[in-house]
This record gives sequence, structure tokens and C-alpha cells, in this order.
Amino acid sequence: MKVTIVGAGNVGASCAEYIAQKQIASKVVLLDIKEGFAEGKALDLYQTATTLGFNTSITGVTNDYAATSGSDVVVITSGVPRKPGMTREELIGINAGIVKKVSESILEYSPNAIIVVVSNPMDTMTYLALKATGLPKNRIIGMGGALDSSRFKTYLSLALDKPANDIQGMVIGGHGDTTMIPLTRLASYNGAPVSQYLDKETLEKVSADTMVGGATLTKLLGTSAWYAPGASVAYLVESILNDYKRMIPCSVLLEGEYGLKDICIGVPCIIGANGIESIIDIQLNAAEQALLNESAEKVHAMNTALKEIL
Ligand code: LAC
Repeated sequence: MKVTIVGAGNVGASCAEYIAQKQIASKVVLLDIKEGFAEGKALDLYQTATTLGFNTSITGVTNDYAATSGSDVVVITSGVPRKPGMTREELIGINAGIVKKVSESILEYSPNAIIVVVSNPMDTMTYLALKATGLPKNRIIGMGGALDSSRFKTYLSLALDKPANDIQGMVIGGHGDTTMIPLTRLASYNGAPVSQYLDKETLEKVSADTMVGGATLTKLLGTSAWYAPGASVAYLVESILNDYKRMIPCSVLLEGEYGLKDICIGVPCIIGANGIESIIDIQLNAAEQALLNESAEKVHAMNTALKEIL
């Protein structure tokens, strides 16, 4: 199985690293527009194969889409990351043109690929890729919910002082500081509702920390995060290539599900060989649905900025 990652920056390279280390694919191609950059990252990563014992081949190319031909999955991380103090939404002006061009170039050489969109503002970039390519909705997956959910579970594990892998939970809605919705009501410590162990204030703090999870890291690192984003992409790609049918919150085109239409936004999806296999209705309560509607309004407003580019 072949995976192309467009953008050999921090997120793209981490993603390649996890896919190779876990041998999720047999071939990884890194593509970047910066001369020699993807080649360098790929060679450095491939030189870890003998030490770490993986068989995945990793190659890098400068803007050569022919080398990506026949990819099963293509991950788009290209564009600029945010700087401290910036919102993801502020990146739309630069990233929209890049994502449109990249998704079109990809399909020339990999007409059957499933596309995973990581570039920000992610929900709007997913919607753009969908409209620009005309692909069916199952083949364009926005990666945000997997990452936000991993941050949510991490903050819950810290608040509970329990192992992260004993925590279940998910984040739906937009992948933005004010649009994501950590579902505290449904989060559990091995099946026991977390509300049995954490009071309302603590749960509110966990939610607030989750929502600005990316911004906190951008402030600490001086640029956008990469380990958790890269690992979340690999988790998603693994579910596609192995047809695991994991339930992962992803940004997907809604056509009436959750009462929403003509928008890509995070809801729980079954991710398998066909990409988005189905959307799961998790029966939100009225307050959660109201938050989702509010989140959708903000994402919709952002999508209107695309009119000029589409
Ligand atoms: C983040 C970026 C990848 O949340 O959106 O870290």
C-alpha cells in the first residue's frame, strides 16, 4: 500500500515516521515544494529503518506528482502553520489556493486515492477539497477530531491521574479554538462516566484546555504542534489501509445528518477501506446539539470566504 504525504514539514514528517515505524504502508512518498527538503527528510527517516527494524520505504520528491502515482491514501498537510496568537482561521488566505492546487494535482496521478486533509482551517479546507475535486464524500476526510479527541483524553487522564489508555472520549464540531465540542457527558474511565470522579468545574477546565490544546502548544513551541497531529493522521490512515472500521470523529460532508447540510464538520465516522464508510448518530442531547449548530454557523461563515477561489 502506498501513502503520499504532501508537505514535508513537521506534521508531514511525523506522520511519515509513525506510518513507517508501525509499517502501516509499504511505501511512503513525501512531497514538498521546497527544493530538496522532502528528499532530505525522507532520507533521514529511511536511515532509521535498520535501527528501528521497519520495511516501509520512504522517498522524498520536490513537487514531482508523477512520483506519487497510484497512491492509496494521500495526506495533505501543505500550507503554512499558525504562529503564536494566530487562529487557524487566519490561515485561509494562503492555504486555500495551495490545498485546491494540491488536491487537483494528486488526482491526476492517483485517481482512486482517499484524501486526508490536515491543512488549516481544516474543516474549510476539507470542504474546499471536496468541491474542487468533485469526489464523493467518502473519499475526503478532514483530520481534526482524532487529534482533538486525543488531546481531550490526555487532559482527562491528567485530571483523573489515571492512564491515558484507560480513558474514552471524543470531540466533535469544528477544529477551531471556539468551535470544537468535547463531549464530557459521554467520556468514560473504562466505561464509568468521568463525571463520577471529576466535578463540574474540573470538567469545564478539561474542556477549555482541550479547545485551546493546539494554541497552547503553538505558544510553547513558536509554531504549530506535530507529534500528536502526525500520530492522529497515522491512526486514521491505519484504519483505512487495514479496513479496521474504527469510529473516529472526522470532518465530513453532512447532508442532513445531525440536522446540518452543505458543511464539512467533525462527527463520529466509521473509517475503513472506503474512507468514510458511514456516519454514526450518537444521539446528542439538546445542549450538545445547540453547541454543534453554533459551531456549524462559524464554519459556514468561514466557508463563504471560499466563494472567490472555487
Ligand atoms: C493543531 C493543528 C495541527 O491543532 O491544527 O495542532
